[in-house]
Amino acid sequence: MKITRQLLFFSFVFLLFTCKEQKQEPLVINGKDKVYDTEIEDKVNQLLSRMTLEEKIGQMNQYNGFWDLTGPEPKAGAAAKKYEHLRKGYVGSMLNVRGVSEVRKVQKIAVEDSRLGIPLIIGFDVIHGYKTLSPIPLAESASWDLEAIKKSAQMAAEEASAAGINWTFAPMVDISRDARWGRVMEGAGEDTFLGSKIAEARVRGFQGDDLSQFNSIAACAKHLAAYGFAESGRDYNTADIGTSTLHNVVLPPFKAAKDAGVRTVMNSFNELNGIPATADEYLQRDILKGKWNFDGFIVSDWGSITEMIAHGYAKDGSHAAELAVKAGSDMDMESYLYVEELAQLVKEGKVKESLIDDSVRRILRVKYELGLFDDPYKYCNETREKEVIGSEKIHAASLDMAKKSIVLLKNEKNLLPLKKKGQKIALIGALASDKTSPLGSWRIAADDSTAVSVLEGLHQYEGNTITYAKGADVSIGKSQFATEVKINTDDKTGFNEAIQAAKSADVVVMVLGEHGFQSGEGRSRTELGLPGVQQELLEAIHKVNKNIVLVLNNGRPLTISWADENIPAIVEAWQLGTESGHAIAQVLYGDYNPSGKLPMTFPRNVGQVPLYYNYKSTGRPILPAPDVVFWSHYQDQVNSPLYPFGHGLSYTTFKYEDIAVQNNYNTTGKVEVTVTLTNTGKLKGKEVVQLYIRDLYASITRPVKELKGFELVELNPGESKNITFTLTKDELGFFNNQGEFLLEPGDFKIFIGGSSYTTLESEFKIEP
Ligand code: NOJ
Repeated sequence: MKITRQLLFFSFVFLLFTCKEQKQEPLVINGKDKVYDTEIEDKVNQLLSRMTLEEKIGQMNQYNGFWDLTGPEPKAGAAAKKYEHLRKGYVGSMLNVRGVSEVRKVQKIAVEDSRLGIPLIIGFDVIHGYKTLSPIPLAESASWDLEAIKKSAQMAAEEASAAGINWTFAPMVDISRDARWGRVMEGAGEDTFLGSKIAEARVRGFQGDDLSQFNSIAACAKHLAAYGFAESGRDYNTADIGTSTLHNVVLPPFKAAKDAGVRTVMNSFNELNGIPATADEYLQRDILKGKWNFDGFIVSDWGSITEMIAHGYAKDGSHAAELAVKAGSDMDMESYLYVEELAQLVKEGKVKESLIDDSVRRILRVKYELGLFDDPYKYCNETREKEVIGSEKIHAASLDMAKKSIVLLKNEKNLLPLKKKGQKIALIGALASDKTSPLGSWRIAADDSTAVSVLEGLHQYEGNTITYAKGADVSIGKSQFATEVKINTDDKTGFNEAIQAAKSADVVVMVLGEHGFQSGEGRSRTELGLPGVQQELLEAIHKVNKNIVLVLNNGRPLTISWADENIPAIVEAWQLGTESGHAIAQVLYGDYNPSGKLPMTFPRNVGQVPLYYNYKSTGRPILPAPDVVFWSHYQDQVNSPLYPFGHGLSYTTFKYEDIAVQNNYNTTGKVEVTVTLTNTGKLKGKEVVQLYIRDLYASITRPVKELKGFELVELNPGESKNITFTLTKDELGFFNNQGEFLLEPGDFKIFIGGSSYTTLESEFKIEP
């Protein structure tokens, strides 16, 4: 009797246990709901059950490429230890190992020498291409062309995967409003709506429809969270934002990436509300893994676990590892603390082994999804490497993306497009002949001098005479790996040659701005003008020839108020990657009609920063009467930007009219708004039609304008099109300070136009 009761009890517990194990959560891969992959989960669990604690922790350990793989095996120092760890199965991932032969070597050690032969996941910063570079991400975002952006990420995945890589630390989805921060080049700019759409496009591009394909790679949404809000724009600095900004501005692009199926997320260097992001349980466990049900893994940023000691948050390495793992950081990038400290922490009972199991499950899951267990060498195909890297197809996509990224900021007297014949052109500026700078920051696998320069691009057109003069050097700052490069900022000996060239020219094309290494990680600036003596050069040339086309190369918004007042044509050409010069030449000559729009506000001067279009109204937003002092303004500068978010011209012109709201938001659950767009110029062209809303009053104040829809429309001269936008609760609601999504009844304004400064407006209500 006793035995039967015991049996019954155990059967009940067993049933409970198995029911729990079999509960299948829906998993979203690239936006498609698919039933939780039980086959993968079974394999993960079986493998996990065979692993020692040390082997499990090994999966959570990521090392940088650590020795010259072609040389002899290191016998001493940190590299030797890493090598030994690799052989023991104490390394789950490596970064910065690239090329089929190198990747094969490390993979072989992991697979053939370690006890369980678990393959490595190979990470790399494939930020805007691998060897053939596309425009820097900020530039790509200026295209507002989601298909093109997705394709660009696809091409990057294609090239990187052919070089043995299967995981990229991209996209960076940090919203930033501060052009001083060097990493604005790596993101999608200042807007959450645009940033979320781009995050989704990039994730889908990298990961494809099926992660197990040989040419798709796992993506990584980074940096969770608020890294783009580094105080005073200084990289790695503290972020201090309110909960409303966190939920409404910072987190939505991460959610969009998650919904698009992103398999990994990276946390950030900064602290937020006194807690370094790496140890932030609220962000990692409560929101990402909890509320959003993210089942991929979180990697720390480089050394961010150990940096918690310098933050004054962790007492020592052991404490840092404990805090990070408890908060949900699954993989340690280059702090070595998990591999050194976690086993002891588990033994002491300070960290539960179930936490380790959860992290390892996540990491193994992604490895299974990539197909690494079926074939650890699937990304190691020498023939494919030769065929794919630098292929024509990838160059063509890079050129296409580069043209789409260019923004025409100003074009008076139709100075552009340039005439194709009989013109004497003076081409001035060190950047005009530079073949490295256009590659931008994050170019690890691209060789120096592999971009097409503007000089080369213009030479493709043979009808004009081009005289090139450097004029002045650009300060090049530091190279990718912080080797000091000679900075030549005050040498004006080249001015005279440039002035002579300009004097006898019909048109002067000046390529000025920042060198590719003046923006990017660790490259914050306090001045946003043209570096070095370039401003002086511009003014000196202007004295002798007013017909100047200024082509800007830069990784962030610059303050170019003087140029805006004095120079008739200004083209924002960022750092456009390998095909840069071809793209710029095609735009200058009108073979491509530009349609880019700014993804970040251009301030008039640094004092206005952070300056962004979707600011909140103050209690004193406008001048109440002439000469009143006490309203929200500056004494020495207007509040408005030089060029607003969304601004960008075309060689044709567009007219917006007949904005019409079809209905209020009520039980139908949507608002429809239409507008008519007409191409009123003489050329075929594309326009990014932008829709903004303003929620006039709410339980949390809302911005004066918020982008909530856009469409890229191409029209022939004289052609009109009616465009309809549909707004649902997703666009009309917002998050309260507890992170709950609200849709409140009330009055809204709606604006449609070609920039955030559009005044064509209408209104609607959300009915109670
Ligand atoms: C530090 C950067 O913040 C991060 O974005 C990058 O992916 C890692 N280094 C790896 O290079």
